[in-house]
Amino acid sequence: MNILIIGSGGREHALGVALKKSPQCEQLYFAPGNAGTSTIGKNLSISDIDIDALLDFATQNKIDLTMVGPEAPLVSGIVDIFTEAGLAIVGPSKAAAQLEGSKDWAKAFMVRHNIPTAKYETFLDYDTSIAYINKRDTYPIVIKADGLAAGKGVTVALNFEMADDALTDCFIDQKFSEAGAKVVIEDFLKGEEASIFAFTDGHVIKPMTPAQDHKAVFDGDKGPNTGGMGSYSPAPLVTPAIEDNVYNDVFLPLLRGLQAEGIVYKGIVYAGLMIDKGEVSIVEFNVRFGDPETQVVLPRLKTDLVTILNAVSNETLDSVNLEWSDDSGVCVVLASGGYPGSYKKGQVMTGLEGDTQTCYVIHAGSEVNDKDETITKGGRVCGVVSIHSDLKIAIETAYQRVDQVQFNGKYNRTDIGFKAFKSIKS
Ligand code: AMP
Ligand code: GLY
Repeated sequence: MNILIIGSGGREHALGVALKKSPQCEQLYFAPGNAGTSTIGKNLSISDIDIDALLDFATQNKIDLTMVGPEAPLVSGIVDIFTEAGLAIVGPSKAAAQLEGSKDWAKAFMVRHNIPTAKYETFLDYDTSIAYINKRDTYPIVIKADGLAAGKGVTVALNFEMADDALTDCFIDQKFSEAGAKVVIEDFLKGEEASIFAFTDGHVIKPMTPAQDHKAVFDGDKGPNTGGMGSYSPAPLVTPAIEDNVYNDVFLPLLRGLQAEGIVYKGIVYAGLMIDKGEVSIVEFNVRFGDPETQVVLPRLKTDLVTILNAVSNETLDSVNLEWSDDSGVCVVLASGGYPGSYKKGQVMTGLEGDTQTCYVIHAGSEVNDKDETITKGGRVCGVVSIHSDLKIAIETAYQRVDQVQFNGKYNRTDIGFKAFKSIKS
C-alpha cells in the first residue's frame, strides 16, 4: 500500500516507524515530514494545512490510505474532502473534529452525553466574563480560548490578575484572533493527568494502552506548559479499574453520542484525563494521536497498525483485536533552549547514529540542509525513545542516548518517567 502521513512532528515519525513494520506498507510519504521521516519514506514539500495540494498529491499518486497527524487539517475538514473524492483517510469528519476545534462545543457535547468534566460557562465578551470572575473568588480557575491556539490558549489562573490577563489576551488584544472570540471558563480539576487514545470506526471504539505526558517545561512539573517534554507507557496511575471506567463512562457515551447526533467519526480519539483518588474527569478531547505519547504507545502495539487503520477506514474494527506488549516505553524530548518561548533554529545536530531496535531517536523539529547536515528547525527537536521490560532500565538507557545527541542550546528534562514509580508505590 501507498500511505500518506500528514504532519511533521515526532508523532508522525513514530507513526511512520510503526506503519513501516507492516508487510502491507510499500511506500510511505510524509507531508511535509522531518529529518527522521526522510529516512523511512519520501518527504513532500506540501504543508499539512494545504488541503488542495494534499488532495492533488493523493489522487495523482494512488495513495491507498492517508493518516492525519495534527488537528488543524482535521478541524478544517480534510476528511470530508478526501472522502468525497473517494480516498481512504483516517480521522474524524469536520463536524466531529469540533471536539477539539471548539472547547465550547466539546463541553456542551460532554454535558449532553453525561461525560464527566469540569463545570463551565461560555462568554463572548470581556465585560461579562470579568464580571463572572469577580463574582467567583475561588482560585485556581481555568480560562480557555474556544478555538485552536497551538497549545497556548489555556490559562490556569491562580489569581484575579492572571484571569484578567487571559481574558484581555482573548477579547481585548485578540491574541488568538477568531479562536479567542469565545472563551470557556471552567472549574479547576485537582489530580494527575493521563492520556488514553482509542481507535473508532464509528461502530465500535477500542481503547489503546494508557500513557502519561510531562507537559511542564522544567523538572518536577514546574514552569509553563509545552507541547510535551516526555512521556511513558504504560501509566501505572491508570489502573485496570480506571481503564474500565474510562471505557464505560467516557468512550462509550462519546460513541453513542456521536451516533445519536449523526456525526461520522472514523479515526483516533484522545481522552485527556484528570484522575483524582480513582475518579476520572475529562480535561479535553483531542481528535488525533498525542505527541509525545504516540512515541511510547505505538512501539508497545503488537497488532499490525496498517490492518487497524484499514479496519477503521472500512468500518470493520470489530474484527480486529488490539494486542500490547508488557514492555515499558519512555520518550525524552530534546528541545531548543528557550522553548516554549523563543529559541534559535538551524543548529547542527550530532550523535544521531547508533539507533537500536529498542533505543532510538524520533525526529520532530529537524531538517536536512543542503550540506546534508541535520539541523534544528523547531522547539521540540527530537525525542529519544527507549523500550525495555523494566521501566527503570528503559529510562537509564534513554538518558545515555540523550547525552550522545548534541546541538547548541539543547535542553531536556532529567526526570521523565519518574512519576510512574510514585504511582506504583501508592
Ligand atoms: P487543554 O488544552 O484543555 O487540555 O488544557 C491544557 C492543559 O491545561 C491541560 O493539559 C491541563 O494541564 C490544564 N487544564 C486544562 N483544564 C483544566 C482544568 N479544568 N483543571 C485543571 N487543569 C486544567
Ligand atoms: N501531548 C499533548 C498533546 O498531544 O496534545
